[in-house]
Amino acid sequence: MSSRVLTAVAWPYANGPRHLGHVSGFGVPSDVFSRYLRMNGHDVLMVSGSDEHGTAITVQADQEGLTARETVDKYHRQLIDDLHGLGLSYDLYTRTTTANHAAVVQDMFSALLENGYVVKQSAMGAISPSTGRTLPDRYIEGTCPICKYDNARGDQCDNCGNQLDPIDLINPTSKINGETPEFRETEHFFLDLPAFANSLTEWLSRRSDWRPNVLKFSQNFINDLRPRAITRDIDWGVSVPLEGWRDQPMKKVYVWFDAVIGYLSASVEWARRTGDPEAWRKWWNDPEALAYYFMGKDNIVFHTVIWPGILLGQNGKGDTGGTLGPFGELNLPTEVVSSEFLTMSGAKFSTSRSRVIYVRDFLAEFGPDALRYFIAVAGPENNDTDFTWDEFVRRNNNELANEWGNLVNRSISMAHKNNGEIPAAGELTEVDTQLLAAARAAFDTVGAHLSRNRFRNAITEAMRIVTLANRYLSDQEPWKLKDDPARRDTVLHCALQLVQDCNTLLTPFLPHSAQQVYEALGGTGVWAAQPQIREVSEDDGVPYPVLMGDYASEEARWESTPIAVGRPLDKPTPLFRKLDESLGVTGPSWSPLMDL
Ligand code: MF3
Ligand code: ZN
Repeated sequence: MSSRVLTAVAWPYANGPRHLGHVSGFGVPSDVFSRYLRMNGHDVLMVSGSDEHGTAITVQADQEGLTARETVDKYHRQLIDDLHGLGLSYDLYTRTTTANHAAVVQDMFSALLENGYVVKQSAMGAISPSTGRTLPDRYIEGTCPICKYDNARGDQCDNCGNQLDPIDLINPTSKINGETPEFRETEHFFLDLPAFANSLTEWLSRRSDWRPNVLKFSQNFINDLRPRAITRDIDWGVSVPLEGWRDQPMKKVYVWFDAVIGYLSASVEWARRTGDPEAWRKWWNDPEALAYYFMGKDNIVFHTVIWPGILLGQNGKGDTGGTLGPFGELNLPTEVVSSEFLTMSGAKFSTSRSRVIYVRDFLAEFGPDALRYFIAVAGPENNDTDFTWDEFVRRNNNELANEWGNLVNRSISMAHKNNGEIPAAGELTEVDTQLLAAARAAFDTVGAHLSRNRFRNAITEAMRIVTLANRYLSDQEPWKLKDDPARRDTVLHCALQLVQDCNTLLTPFLPHSAQQVYEALGGTGVWAAQPQIREVSEDDGVPYPVLMGDYASEEARWESTPIAVGRPLDKPTPLFRKLDESLGVTGPSWSPLMDL
């Protein structure tokens, strides 16, 4: 693997707090991956931000009686709190309403226009007959023409995942007042996707190692490429950088065109904020650098077809060529890692249907690592997966608390009681040597899984070593070795070495408790760094919060290091709380399952 890796994480809409479905799709997997790579010596740039344009925002604003600006200010802050609470190690988590983002989007738009991949066409736009108001995307609902789902939106059908236009819907109605819209001809700019048919097909054909769900969605989409409108009749978004368009209040760039460009604009902003404005190029222009994109499955084609198309267009490398745009030759995705949906009682998490668990509530009650563990071991990596309180409680109690927490706790307490410090080992037996070797070997096996984004396999393998270590203690019974202190010290030494190795293996998944274990073993300084909320601003001086972090200074390395013999040990405090089993039946009092 190249030393430089871009981790590009899907941008959540700033239209509400995050629920478990969101963070299990894009949040935790991308963070586990990035933390592992950093520990393994890679130069990671992990970027994302709040997606703040489009009708997902304006519809919410209407509902709350707020302006779009007030809505995104409110929810951007909440998103920052949720993602910060989970310990997601963004190098920059920003937002799409910055001047920097608008400038990058406009430069990209102009480069594509120049190369002929963005073209002006007339299109049919929905209008409210009673008010004359334009009704783009989510302002129209109706029946999906493809799968016949009743609640399809004007931009996309949530049931079959297809991209739609309001005019495609059967029985379209206005979300504002239920009336049937009229359609009028209007001018828009289109991304000429058919002009990428060959170049994209060729590029995709070399991606055979991607997850099957990602390939399947992308192949289907690419077999039927049509020009896609990238402007809208809406007053909230990036303005179109052209005479006669720039100042039109009701014509803006389509949210999906602007959002995917966020990966690039956030990298540019990060470079500027860290004092080396050209530094983003090391991840975008160097053909050796890798780029991994993380998202839920409803975002796949935007990342496997539309974004690569935009990049090819800027590069002058679509089917009709062109000149290299202002950003230089930009890298296409190395891999698009998409998860499936986390469901609850068999259906998607959904705010409107009150089938939802908010990250904020969950973190307040159970803390970040219990959730991160659950998502890694039981999340929707390859299948839609049902969240149940029963499974959460069981895994938390049986695996995190009884296996891992218990191993840490009893190893450190025994050594604390008997030695007051990390004891030296005497002669090792065959059993000792084999187990220590198994732990050392796990760095390769777990690492291989992580570099292929196989999180469930990775954490299962790490936990297998934890189980072996617990069995070792039960078999060796150091508490019965009062008369053989030399052997007892050797067993405790080995147990502590295993705790340290397992802690390293678990660090990408459980960075908060990993820091605690590191300190319990006498370590000082930062083992696993956490993101910080910073208030920043642009030329206008208006402050906004971002997440950034100093991850380069963390101590964690992906390797077995010998424990420091002679370091004093305090009495440990338990790592994980065991949850009351009744919680597995009912969920906490705030859980919606209570009323189902
Ligand atoms: N906001 C979109 C969603 O929640 C995701 C945007 S990902 C991006 O579905 F890359 F385009 F930003
Ligand atoms: Zn459909």
